[in-house]
Amino acid sequence: MSEVMETTAPARPAPRTAEPAYLSGFGNHFATEAEPGALPQGQNSPQRTPFGLYTEQLSGTAFTAPRTENRRSWLYRIRPSANHPPYRPHAQGLLRSGPFTEAPPTPNRLRWDPLPPPEAPADFIEGLITFGGNGDAETGAGVGVHLYRADRDMDRLFYNADGELLIVPQQGRVRLVTEFGLLLLGPGEIAVIPRGVRFRAELPDGAANGYICENYGALFRLPDLGPIGANGLANPRDFLSPRAAYEDVDQPTEVIQKFAGRLWITEFDHSPLDVVAWHGNLAPYKYDLARFNTINTVSFDHPDPSIFTVLTAPSDTPGTANCDFVVFPPRWMVAEHTFRPPWFHRNVMSEFMGLITGAYDAKAGGFAPGGASLHNAMSGHGPDQASYQNAVDAELKPHKLENTLAFMFETRWPIRPTRFALETPAMQLDYDDVWANFDKARLP
Ligand SMILES: [Fe+2]
Repeated sequence: MSEVMETTAPARPAPRTAEPAYLSGFGNHFATEAEPGALPQGQNSPQRTPFGLYTEQLSGTAFTAPRTENRRSWLYRIRPSANHPPYRPHAQGLLRSGPFTEAPPTPNRLRWDPLPPPEAPADFIEGLITFGGNGDAETGAGVGVHLYRADRDMDRLFYNADGELLIVPQQGRVRLVTEFGLLLLGPGEIAVIPRGVRFRAELPDGAANGYICENYGALFRLPDLGPIGANGLANPRDFLSPRAAYEDVDQPTEVIQKFAGRLWITEFDHSPLDVVAWHGNLAPYKYDLARFNTINTVSFDHPDPSIFTVLTAPSDTPGTANCDFVVFPPRWMVAEHTFRPPWFHRNVMSEFMGLITGAYDAKAGGFAPGGASLHNAMSGHGPDQASYQNAVDAELKPHKLENTLAFMFETRWPIRPTRFALETPAMQLDYDDVWANFDKARLP
C-alpha cells in the first residue's frame, strides 16, 4: 500500500464527457484535496481544521477488522453529514432486497431478452429493476442482482446502506458524481461504489442501461493468484479512484437511501457532495475490463472459469465466494485436441450472466447484449446444440475470439428470482430447447 497525495485545482465546471483525473491503485491509502491546504496533515481529527471543515470518518469495515481487511476514509466537508431532517419511507418501484420472498427459488434455467426502454422517464434510481438475489441485506450476506435502464440525469442523491454497488454498464456512459469526486464510466468498464457513499448518476449520452451486483457481504477485493504469481488477471494499478471534488450548493437536495431493503428519502438544505478533501482506503473505483490480463490454457482443456475472476467478495467459507465477478473477454483460443467453449457442467455455485457486447461463445443465439441468464445450483447447463456441433467440427488452429464481453455474478447460494423476473415478457419461455436436440452418443 502506498499513500498518494494529490491536490487538484479548485472545482470548475468541466464538460460532462471529460474524463476526470484519477488516483491509481486498488485499496491504496489515498490523500487528495480539492483546495490546497484543505487536508489536515499528521493527524485525522485536529482541534481546528483547515477552513473550519467538518471531520467525518466513513467506515467500510468494523473498527476492529484485521489491518489487511480494514477499510475506512476520513472526509473533510463543508457541513456535517448529520445535518438533515428525518428520513421517511419512499416508493420502492421494482427494487427488491434480500431476503427474497416474492417467488420460490427455481431450479429451472432462465434467460431473458434485453428489457425495452423505460415507459416513463426514469433516472438511475427510478430505473432499477431487481431480477433476484440471495441472503439478507440486514445480516450482511448474499447479493441483489439488478438491471438499470434510465434516460435522464438524477437531480437528487442516492446511497446504499445495504452493500456496495458493482455497476456494469451495457449501453451509454454514466457520470458518477460522488462525495469522493467524479468517475466517468462507459460500457466495457465497471465501477464499485462503497456502502454509504452518496452519489448522483448523470447520463452524458441521454440513455443508459446495464447491470448491478449489490454485494451485502465482505467487500470486493482482488482474488489470490496462487501459482499464477505476483501479476496477472486484474492488476492493482488499473483500478482508478476519484480525486477530491466538491459542490458548494445551498439548494434543497433530496437524498434517497436504501436501508435494510427499503428506500427512504429526506431533503438536505444543501448538497452533501461537499467533501473538499479526503484520505483513506475506502473510496469508489472504476476499472476498464480491457485491462484484464486474460490467462488460459496454452496446451489443452479449458480451465475452470474462475480463471476469469476480476473481483471476489469472500464468505466465511474459504474459497467459496459470497460473490465473484467474472468476465469472458476477447482472447486467443489455442487449445489442442480440446472442446474449446465452456463445457457442460453442474455447479454448486449459482450463476447470473449478462452480455455487454457481441456474442458469447457457448451460445449461437438467444443471448443478446443487454439480456441475462440464470443457472442456479446444480442446474445442468453449457453450450447449446449449434455451439457444441461447431466446436466439435472445428479445425483447431489458433483462433481469436473477438467482439465479445460477457460476465457472471457467481454466488454461493441459489438466486431467487423476483416476481418481475418471472413475469416479464422478456423471459424466454423456450430456453430449455437450446439443449433439446443433442444426438445420443454412439456406443459400440
Ligand atoms: Fe456455468
